[in-house]
Amino acid sequence: MSVKQMFDLSGQTALVAGGGSGLGRLMALALAEAGANVVVCSRRLEVCEQVVKEVEALGRQGLALAIDVTDSEAVRQSVDKAISHFGKIEILVNSSGTVWEGPATEMPVEKWQGMLNTNVTGTFLMCQAVGKHMIENEYGRIINISSVIGDRGTDPEAVDSVGYTTSKGAVMTLTKDLAVKWGRHGVNVNSIAPGVFQTGMNDPEVPGTLVQKAGPIIASQIPVRRLGNENDLAGAVVYFASAASDYCTGQVLAVDGGFGAK
Ligand SMILES: NC(=O)c1ccc[n+]([C@@H]2O[C@H](COP(=O)([O-])OP(=O)(O)OC[C@H]3O[C@@H](n4cnc5c(N)ncnc54)[C@H](OP(=O)(O)O)[C@@H]3O)[C@@H](O)[C@H]2O)c1
Repeated sequence: MSVKQMFDLSGQTALVAGGGSGLGRLMALALAEAGANVVVCSRRLEVCEQVVKEVEALGRQGLALAIDVTDSEAVRQSVDKAISHFGKIEILVNSSGTVWEGPATEMPVEKWQGMLNTNVTGTFLMCQAVGKHMIENEYGRIINISSVIGDRGTDPEAVDSVGYTTSKGAVMTLTKDLAVKWGRHGVNVNSIAPGVFQTGMNDPEVPGTLVQKAGPIIASQIPVRRLGNENDLAGAVVYFASAASDYCTGQVLAVDGGFGAK
């Protein structure tokens, strides 16, 4: 197989949870550009439908589904719908996520549970529903979105969300454990740990987000001296989704401009 063929996703189906906005949208479009048809899902059907239009403009087929990843029955039904529409799912990207900031001493238990529910339980339920189908087909590529701050502490002045960092650490461990359990079934499970990107939950226009509060200061501390942009995750997600990463599973790839190397 040539290197170009290895990265070609033509004829495959990717499901991107959280694909209606932010990093999920960018990864959905990168997978479509590499040849995949894409199922785009999150709770807001209308934003997913918009992304499906962008997928179709790239010459691929798309399907928008409303899904709350914390609802196991809804997850199962949506995955069944996606499979009956496209026949199979080869690629799953879990980009759904939520964050709430506040001091650890004051964090309301419902905010803590909300982050763990969406970021950890939601990722697990999606892996479980799609993974079962992938195991039956003896082929699958799962990419869970964690975070570069999922395996460390952060100064409260920078990121003050112990529920978020804890949840992202759990996503890394979930990734490694499923990789070990499912590798023998042809299902690779990897994680991308983004640094700071100016999208979605880090929108520079939204008051209170990390980038709005301290974007230039953070950029000055990143070795490549900038925040992540709309192109920076495309290569990583296509790599993990494709035959180029056949011998790579259980890995966490930081795409962070070198932040985690410090
Ligand atoms: N931006 C960054 O700098 C950064 C850095 C590291 C990691 N990340 C991670 O990257 C992922 C995407 O974040 P983002 O920056 O792109 O923010 P975003 O635009 O807010 O994306 C979060 C997505 O999750 C979906 N979502 C939230 N709760 C959900 C639920 N219960 N069920 C289904 N979908 C749900 C949202 O759609 P609905 O509201 O329509 O449900 C949205 O599409 C997250 O996991 C985040 O933790 C981001």
